Amino acid sequence: MGWKISQSPKVDTVYFAPGNGGTTNNIDISVENIASLAKFASENDCITIVGPEAPLANGIVDEFQKKELQIFGPTKSAAQLESSKVWAKNFMKRNGILTARFEVFENPKEAKEYARSVDFPLVVKADGLASGKGVIVCDDSTDVISAIDKILVQKSFGAAGDKIILEERIDGVEASYIAISDGTVAYPMATTQDHKRIFDNDKGPNTGGMGAYCPTPVIDKKTADDIQKNIIEKTIASMKKEGNPFQGFLYAGIMLKDGKPYVLEFNVRMGDPECQPIMVRMESDLYDYIKAGIDGNLSVLPGIKWKDQSAVCVVLASKGYPDSYPKNEEITGLETQDKNSYVFHAGTKRHDGKILTNGGRVLGVTALGGTLEQAIKNAYTRVDKINWPSKYFRTDIGKKGLT
Ligand code: AMP
Ligand code: GLY
Repeated sequence: MGWKISQSPKVDTVYFAPGNGGTTNNIDISVENIASLAKFASENDCITIVGPEAPLANGIVDEFQKKELQIFGPTKSAAQLESSKVWAKNFMKRNGILTARFEVFENPKEAKEYARSVDFPLVVKADGLASGKGVIVCDDSTDVISAIDKILVQKSFGAAGDKIILEERIDGVEASYIAISDGTVAYPMATTQDHKRIFDNDKGPNTGGMGAYCPTPVIDKKTADDIQKNIIEKTIASMKKEGNPFQGFLYAGIMLKDGKPYVLEFNVRMGDPECQPIMVRMESDLYDYIKAGIDGNLSVLPGIKWKDQSAVCVVLASKGYPDSYPKNEEITGLETQDKNSYVFHAGTKRHDGKILTNGGRVLGVTALGGTLEQAIKNAYTRVDKINWPSKYFRTDIGKKGLT
């Protein structure tokens, strides 16, 4: 988003807090330090865009609004769509938004009894934020029992796992649908498909996302209209009606089954890595949409324009992610220039003139192409030029879109 918005003629300087090895104008303030961020934004006449979920869940928007600072994102209360899965599921249930049937538990014994009593496969979810790792998709009751123990007994996700959801597993085709809203209307961003599992062919544990492409053929026009009307607009209208208006990026994680879109989860921000292919395809000025989103007059703008190309982002991670992985390894090959591709940094830092790894997901190599096939080729060509000892990536990003 910073890369995209810096291209706007209406923007002087883009600051990043705390930033990484790929960003300039880094401000050494952590996302938890809301008071210092507000002071910086005030002194530098900033409009603030919130990237990750944690500061939104901590009420950064509420604090900035109290100080009359311009900020784009949902309030703490509206951010519950992501920060509490129990809250989100109950919201969907009371507003008739299609989602998998579910039950909520705090007691492991009761959860296990329920698990043994149902005759459909289950997914176990921690209530709170867990960096995309708090969901365990189960094949049988042994998996379910160990997932219940992991979250409710061993407390692997801390207080985020004080409550769990057991919900029906929906086996279908997954896609991401992201819209931008000013609290009243919502405009769709381009459709995408993430690759959540760590290994090729969607094997292994869930991650924050290992790659994404845009647009995706799995959301055809009819399905897109259905999602826009019956999920996105219904959510925005229901939030407003409940006195909890939602301003920001609204991300619906969708499972398509028998032509029907089920909401698996909401995120209250851009997706990562979905954001990268969306941004490189976006023709319109992102600043205009953010500003109108803050001012509550999105409806005066036309729909967002997109490049008539495909885009793919391949995430380069450090081996061991989503569990433990090494850090501080030097990344080489970043100097290559290529007009079809971009290297967006995530977990990196600058040290002594070098770029070092500093997180699980390290880089998002993102390419455009005339076709999806070409975009995939362009992305992997660039991927091959970049190296560090623990570099790991999936080799099948975008393949699902070709069939
Ligand atoms: P979430 O964090 O809720 O998006 O869940 C992470 C991932 O788990 C999703 O992207 C899906 O791949 C999978 N998942 C979540 N809920 C379900 C479900 N009810 N049925 C099947 N897979 C699911
Ligand atoms: N890629 C999914 C997410 O950002 O949560």
